[in-house]
Amino acid sequence: MTSVVMIAGDGIGPEVMAATRQVLQAVGARVDWVEAHAGLDAVEKFGDPLPEQTLELIRKHRVAIKGPCTTPVGKGFRSINVRLRQDLALFASVRPVRTLPGVKVPYDNVDLIVVRENTEGLYAGLEHVVVPGVVESLRIVTREAAERIVRYTFELARHQGRRKVTVVHKASILPLSDGMFLRIADRIADDYPFIEYEQQTIDHVALDLAFDPTPYDVLVMENLFGDVMSDLCAGLVGGLGVVPGANIGERYALFEAVHGSAPDIAGKGLANPIALLRSAAMMLDHIGQRASAKRIEQSVCRTLEAKVGLTRDLGGDGNTRTITAQLIANL
Ligand code: NAI
Repeated sequence: MTSVVMIAGDGIGPEVMAATRQVLQAVGARVDWVEAHAGLDAVEKFGDPLPEQTLELIRKHRVAIKGPCTTPVGKGFRSINVRLRQDLALFASVRPVRTLPGVKVPYDNVDLIVVRENTEGLYAGLEHVVVPGVVESLRIVTREAAERIVRYTFELARHQGRRKVTVVHKASILPLSDGMFLRIADRIADDYPFIEYEQQTIDHVALDLAFDPTPYDVLVMENLFGDVMSDLCAGLVGGLGVVPGANIGERYALFEAVHGSAPDIAGKGLANPIALLRSAAMMLDHIGQRASAKRIEQSVCRTLEAKVGLTRDLGGDGNTRTITAQLIANL
C-alpha cells in the first residue's frame, strides 16, 4: 500500500475525485487515501486556501492527487497552484498529450509530452510600479532551474523511449535569459546523443502545431510559454476534459487534472472524470503500479471508442455515474 494525499478540491472536484477513486478501487490499486483540504473548502475550515496542514501532509507522504480548486478572486490570496509548485519545489509540469479514440479532433496521430518549468519565469510574481503608468514585471531565469528542467526532460525522454526533444524559446528577443537556457540545453543534450535534439522559437512551434503536430515529440520550455503551449496542445486532442497532468519535484509529486472547478455544472453530476482519472493513472505509474495504470488508460480508450454513457462535454447524453460505470466495466 502507498499513502497518497487526496485533495478533492471545489466545484466538480469532489465529484470527479469520487469517480476516480471508484475506478482505482475496481482496478485493485493499492492506495491508502489521506484526506487534505485546499481551495474554498479550506478557506471555510482553516481561513487559508492552502493550509499549512495540507503542505505538511504532502511533505510527509510525498505523493498527492488534487481536484481543481477555485481561486478566490480579489481576496488577496495567492494562487493555490502557484504556491503548491513553489513551496514544494515541484519544478516540472508534465502533460502527455495523445490522440484518443472516438474524440473528434483535426489530427488522429498526436503524441506529445509538454514539459514546463514550474517555479520561475514571470510566475516569480515580481512586479512593481516604476512610475505611475509604467509597470515592470520580472522574468526570472536561473542557471540552476534551467539545468534542472532540461536534464529532467532528457531523462524523461530516455525512460519513455522518446525520439526527440525540442527546446522552445524566444532567444532572438530575450538573448540573455533564453540565450542562457539554450546554451545549457546544448550542453545537456550532448549527454544524450541517442535522442534527437533541436531548438525552435515559440512562434514557429505554435504555427507548426496548428498545421501538423506530428514532427514534434517532447517539448520543454520556461513557465509562461509552457502555460500557453500546454493548453494549446491539450486542444489538439480534445481539450482539458481529457488530458492529465503531473507536477514533479525531487522529493514530491502532485497529480491533477488541468481543468478548473467548473462552477456552471458543479453539483449536477455531469462532470467528466477522465482528466483526473488519467492523472491518477500517471500517479499509479509513478508509484510503481504500472499494470493498473495501463489498464486504466486502456479502459479510457475503450470507453471513448464505444461512446456509451459519455458525459455531455464528450458529445454523449450521460453523466458522471454512467461514464464511471463504463470505465469500470471496460477495465
Ligand atoms: P473550468 O475549466 O472550470 O471550466 C471551463 C468550461 O469547461 C466550463 O464550461 C466547464 O463546465 C467545462 N468543464 C471543465 N471541466 C470539466 C469536466 N471535467 N467535465 C465537464 N465539463 C468540464 O474553467 P473556469 O470556468 O475558467 O474556472 C473555474 C474555476 O476553476 C476558477 O475559480 C479557476 O480559478 C479555477 N481553476 C482551477 C484550476 C486548478 O485548480 N487546477 C485550473 C483552472 C481553473
